[in-house]
Amino acid sequence: MCAAVALNMAAADISSPDGNLLLNVDVNAQGEPYYNLSYKGKPVIVDSKLGLVAKEAKFKDNFKILSTDTASFNETWHPVWGEYQDIVNHFNQLTVNLQNTDGLLMNVCFRVFNDGMGFRYEFPLQDKANYLAVLDEISEFNFPADHTLFAIPGDYDTDEYLFTEARISEMPEAMKKYAGRHSESQRTKDLEKTIQTPMLAKTDDGLYINIHEAALIGFPAIQLDINPETYGMKTHLTPDKLGVRGYIQLPFNTPWRTIIVSDDAREILASQLILNLNEPSKIEDTSWIKPMKFIGVWWEMFTGREKTWAYSDDYRAKPGVTDYTKLKPNGRHPANTENVKKYIDFAADHGIDAVLVEGWNEGWEDWASYRKNRQFLFDKHYPDFDLPYLRDYAKEKGVKLVMHHETAANAQDYERQLDRAFQFMKDNNYDAVKTGYVGAIIPRSEHHTSQGMVDHAQYVIEKAADYEIMIDSHEAPRPTGLIRTYPNWLAQESARGGEFESMGGNPPSHTAILPFTRLKGGPMDYTPGLFQLDLSYYNEGKTGKAMSTLARQLALYLTMPSPMQMAADLPENYQRFPDAFTFIEEVPVEWKDSKYLEAEPARYITVARQDKNSDDWFVGAITDDNARDAVIDFSFLEPGVSYEATIYADAPNAHYLDNQQAYIITKKKVNNKTKLKQHLAPGGGAAIKVSPIRK
Ligand code: NOJ
Ligand code: CA
Repeated sequence: MCAAVALNMAAADISSPDGNLLLNVDVNAQGEPYYNLSYKGKPVIVDSKLGLVAKEAKFKDNFKILSTDTASFNETWHPVWGEYQDIVNHFNQLTVNLQNTDGLLMNVCFRVFNDGMGFRYEFPLQDKANYLAVLDEISEFNFPADHTLFAIPGDYDTDEYLFTEARISEMPEAMKKYAGRHSESQRTKDLEKTIQTPMLAKTDDGLYINIHEAALIGFPAIQLDINPETYGMKTHLTPDKLGVRGYIQLPFNTPWRTIIVSDDAREILASQLILNLNEPSKIEDTSWIKPMKFIGVWWEMFTGREKTWAYSDDYRAKPGVTDYTKLKPNGRHPANTENVKKYIDFAADHGIDAVLVEGWNEGWEDWASYRKNRQFLFDKHYPDFDLPYLRDYAKEKGVKLVMHHETAANAQDYERQLDRAFQFMKDNNYDAVKTGYVGAIIPRSEHHTSQGMVDHAQYVIEKAADYEIMIDSHEAPRPTGLIRTYPNWLAQESARGGEFESMGGNPPSHTAILPFTRLKGGPMDYTPGLFQLDLSYYNEGKTGKAMSTLARQLALYLTMPSPMQMAADLPENYQRFPDAFTFIEEVPVEWKDSKYLEAEPARYITVARQDKNSDDWFVGAITDDNARDAVIDFSFLEPGVSYEATIYADAPNAHYLDNQQAYIITKKKVNNKTKLKQHLAPGGGAAIKVSPIRK
């Protein structure tokens, strides 16, 4: 027995602080490291291999465990903004130090929390390996049975997909419908059985399992290859054009691979595990980071009125043509002085912090074409957008302008302009920017989720922090909790957002699955708040409908929380429904506490959140395309205090397809004993403001 231990240490195991999760790590007969995980005695992950293959060295087999280290950690930290003011970071840690017969060293660090676990590879400095070109990561997530999955198809370049709900064994077949469907898609043959993370699995006996990654720095994003026969999943790293997944220099720690587990769906929503696995804020003075609500000319471009980001339709605007005053304006350009002024006035009148203006700068004439003859300039405004005037006007009105940097995926060009672009923002009183990467990445050797673009995102967010600028990034790698380290990264799109309500629609289940999946990495700039949901209203040839009731649009401010939250519709539509707009005016964007009251993935979510800056609570409830009675248990309220609830709800005959704007607003006294049954229409929702009644 002693001899066996000398050759190879016995298996290591570790449990979560509450003892519900048990992790076991060992090496098999081939010396391949593997782990398994159980929750309350039920298998979550069965034996799943670990390792990494580089061109220069294989960290895969012939390993033995040299030693193990354990540690425990328990702290409460306070994010700059978010769903909670206090976040508990409590885990037990196990590091398994491995060496293979080639003398290569690899340590795997596991952290087991009450709500799941994370692991990462920590490659120490060593003689036999230095610079590595990573070809593959072995990490497996093998399930014991054919669970139901909620996931989007694998794709190196876009995540703007609807979710598919299917058994593991059926998922590859179910995703075939997406082949070549998306304009930005770089789906290739090797992605036919691949899904993106964060994904959610539900077992037949009621376990919920979310798999994703945390702290994606200096490495490509992960996706997961499905084996439909064994119900297995294996990490699939986004490659560059040469097929290399990542270039690393040792010592190097990979991002964390994360597994959130619970038998209560609400706990998946409440989990802060991914944030906990990220480093604390690198920004010391965070006083300049300010969550905000904003409006913008943006929806004008989506309503079917043929409005454009471009000032001119003159495609002769080739490189070298710099004098825009010589181009003929197209007259369909919302980013003009008069129009933006109206938005500033509306924001000032309604307590909205900021106005986003897309299409303000030179370069849009050719932006979506793959020729990309023109590149964007981030310090040159169009002739009809009087930036100095609007800057001063907005300041006078106490409203911020939000900058827009669409790069058309020319990341390299953006990096070259970045200092100038950020300095231009500071000089003109802008402190937040929405960035965008539409199209195939330049340099062409990179994908949206390859290491080069992960590095680019880090470069941009760090540079932004230097300039005290907040970022809302679109078409960037999916978030992995880096908002903890860089709290100036307020929001990301990185999923199919509200804009698709004008391009085929988002079925109601979409916003009932995003919080279980995509939102685990960080907040989403989903752009809620559409009141004019039937687009034929605009009488400009567009017939589509947003798949939602009006009341549901209000509830999304709670179920899709973001510190940078848009009121997406046009001011004129808000003016038609001023009583409903009151909710958008009043709903906060940062929270003291959050309580998930009811939840089932892709079906329904009911959440209560306490305003960070007052004693008010706000409740949001949504359902899928089925009507539902939400049961709101107000026991979270302070005992002995009476509250007034203002309820924005679907009218009894409301429906997300043919009676979208039927809502009713009622007031009710509630206290911590109240249980309210609240009707939600098919595709509907309810939003409630709860304020203490002061005597
Ligand atoms: C795609 C973004 O998601 C959208 O919000 C933006 O308006 C366009 N790109 C133009 O930048
Ligand atoms: Ca987008």
